Amino acid sequence: MSDETATTFTPRVFSGIQPSGGLTLGNYLGAMKRFVDMQDAGTHETVYCMVDLHAITAKFLDPDTLRKNTRELCAGFIAAGIDPETSILINQSQVPEHAQLAWIFNCVARMGWMQRMTQWKDKAGKNQQNASLGLFAYPALMAADILIYHATHVPVGEDQKQHLELTRDIAIKFNHDYGVDFFPVTEPVIEGAATRVMSLRDGSKKMSKSDPSDASRINLTDDADTIAKKIRKAKTDPDALPSEVDGLQDRAEARNLVNIYAALSEQSVAEVLAEVGGKQFGEFKPMLSDLAVAKMAPISSEMARLMDDQAEIDRILTRGAERARAITAPILRQTYDIIGMVPPVTL
Ligand code: TRP
Repeated sequence: MSDETATTFTPRVFSGIQPSGGLTLGNYLGAMKRFVDMQDAGTHETVYCMVDLHAITAKFLDPDTLRKNTRELCAGFIAAGIDPETSILINQSQVPEHAQLAWIFNCVARMGWMQRMTQWKDKAGKNQQNASLGLFAYPALMAADILIYHATHVPVGEDQKQHLELTRDIAIKFNHDYGVDFFPVTEPVIEGAATRVMSLRDGSKKMSKSDPSDASRINLTDDADTIAKKIRKAKTDPDALPSEVDGLQDRAEARNLVNIYAALSEQSVAEVLAEVGGKQFGEFKPMLSDLAVAKMAPISSEMARLMDDQAEIDRILTRGAERARAITAPILRQTYDIIGMVPPVTL
């Protein structure tokens, strides 16, 4: 991590995940595990968010489904190791300053900037005229999520890099237009290639909750037997594992299973291959299966336990929102003051 902004701003990490339902090993290794590592490192304050306002930009979900997804994501965060007393764990809509700052940023960001966003172009497809205004404004809300905390570092996947560049552009333009040094120019912390988890049925596709084949993914809610069975059935090739990283080229499925092993055992791919090079999948798969069950089954049972106590989840989120607002309310007031608006009335 660079210290570029750390001299003037409290080192603070912010990241978010959409409560769109269905968490996989890909969410765990690609995002949640890193969030936990950053929390445990203790070098930064950490704020993690369920972004329900983003989850309605493509289409409105059934209300009970959205509520369930949000609670499930909260349970997933905690089961994965986020401690709601150490980190601030929140649901976006419970902290109104996100949406309030987003409006200001809608007025900072330029149409041209937004039109260049590849996620907008991909998600709106050919029918931009029929996409919601919220989908178009999505990256400005994301910038507000980050900057309402003056967050200095944001761990995200490669696909969100452009949105972070936009966040920086918004901070720079606001600071410049008002002649202030108010918003930090946030640093992206992009995931390494090793944590990109691919489908167990096709090593060229990302592991996804929306793949029609449940065997293609490990869900965070899968129990030990299901995890073991899915790994046993995972697609492989007939060759033995190589001893060198180069030997995984053009072997997408082999590479994926080795990557998963490396991420779960917190080793580099080279270290794993030094150990398992020369083994057949018949021997490697039971090793991977034992490891995956040891690491993932406790998460699914903790999630199940939490999902049985929704009142507890709701209490955690209320407490998180209170802690968050101690940061976000003053930053919103200062923003309004810089602009020349009257601060919101407090009740
Ligand atoms: N757009 C992010 C994603 O889909 C989720 C997100 C919303 C986010 N707000 C954020 C990520 C702020 C990091 C910081 O992955």
